[in-house]
Amino acid sequence: MLDLFDNQEDAHRPIISEEELSDADVLIELKKIKEELKDQVVVLGHHYQQDDVIAFADITGDSLQLAREAARIDKPYIIFCGVHFMAETTDMLTKPNQKVILPDLRAGCSMADMAKRSEIDKAWTFMQKSTNEKIIPVTYINCAATLKAFVGENEGSICTSSNAEKIIGWALKQGTKLLFFPDQHLGRNTCFKMGIPLADMVVYNPNKLNGGLTSEQIHKAKVILWYGFCSVHQGFTLEQVLATKKRDPEMTVIVHPECNFEVTQAADDNGSTSYIIEKIAQSKAGSKFAVGTEINLVNRLAHEFPDKTIVSLSPYQCLCTTMYRVRPRWLLASFRAIKENKPINIISVSEDIAQSSIKALNRMLDVK
Ligand code: 13P
Ligand code: SF4
Repeated sequence: MLDLFDNQEDAHRPIISEEELSDADVLIELKKIKEELKDQVVVLGHHYQQDDVIAFADITGDSLQLAREAARIDKPYIIFCGVHFMAETTDMLTKPNQKVILPDLRAGCSMADMAKRSEIDKAWTFMQKSTNEKIIPVTYINCAATLKAFVGENEGSICTSSNAEKIIGWALKQGTKLLFFPDQHLGRNTCFKMGIPLADMVVYNPNKLNGGLTSEQIHKAKVILWYGFCSVHQGFTLEQVLATKKRDPEMTVIVHPECNFEVTQAADDNGSTSYIIEKIAQSKAGSKFAVGTEINLVNRLAHEFPDKTIVSLSPYQCLCTTMYRVRPRWLLASFRAIKENKPINIISVSEDIAQSSIKALNRMLDVK
């Protein structure tokens, strides 16, 4: 068998070995090895994964669906085809004897990197000094486990793009103010939809002293949004929505709520990746959609529904490059390592962080 690793001591760093194994051979071997290990391994795949990876996923879904499914899996290995924070969440929702594997450890999320635990702690101290009202922290699931632990420790919760409204509604019943991180856009779009005016929201920028806010601004605000965003979804603009509508008024513009406020407001509809898939699947033949989300998903939808017109809202490739780091070749490397009983790229959250995070994850999964 061909070796995918440059040296066994550094086996977690598979080298690119196009010369050794062609793309076609990778897929052939993947099919075989997956069948061989079917009693031991479950492959989870986020909707933004490339087609050649999705083809090997036992379960696909948005972040919430994958988190729920992870908690039900009973096999010893879960290969998570997605990004780092998703694999961490899966590790915390599975049993200690189960191993979660991320095929490429560099598959991160730029938005998740925009909030660090030390920054949140500092911001929290300033906010507590600024007001005696009760602030409930809610984090978008796109963040490191240490941030999930923060909300767990501070009576808060986690949300995804498909349950943000419910979770924020829950949070505003527990306290009078909301701190939402790391994605300002999901926070703003959802709060506005719930009837909170923009004037009641402020943005805390961790790159500025005290977030660029005064204590009075914190005290007056209902919602404090963290200055974070998804660089992929910032590729969709208001101009694109207006141009699309002008070109073809019958085109439905549907976007992910990580898009900015003006885009989300001008679009006809918005929702999580699964919501977008569902809406397109349920539409009648001949329907037309301009979709504001990651390109792998948009292209797959266009392929799956040839009787409908499905295009990207943006003329440029809005690719999540970190999701794209999970290649079939690295998936194969993960399988081979399991077969050899030397699993690689295991994602493991430390016990103390997991304990606090689980409180918040369970709060999220319990909110109906
Ligand atoms: P979904 O939960 O809607 O799949 O979103 C995940 C994500 O990272 C979108 O950028
Ligand atoms: Fe993160 Fe954006 Fe990629 Fe989603 S699309 S994983 S938010 S960088």
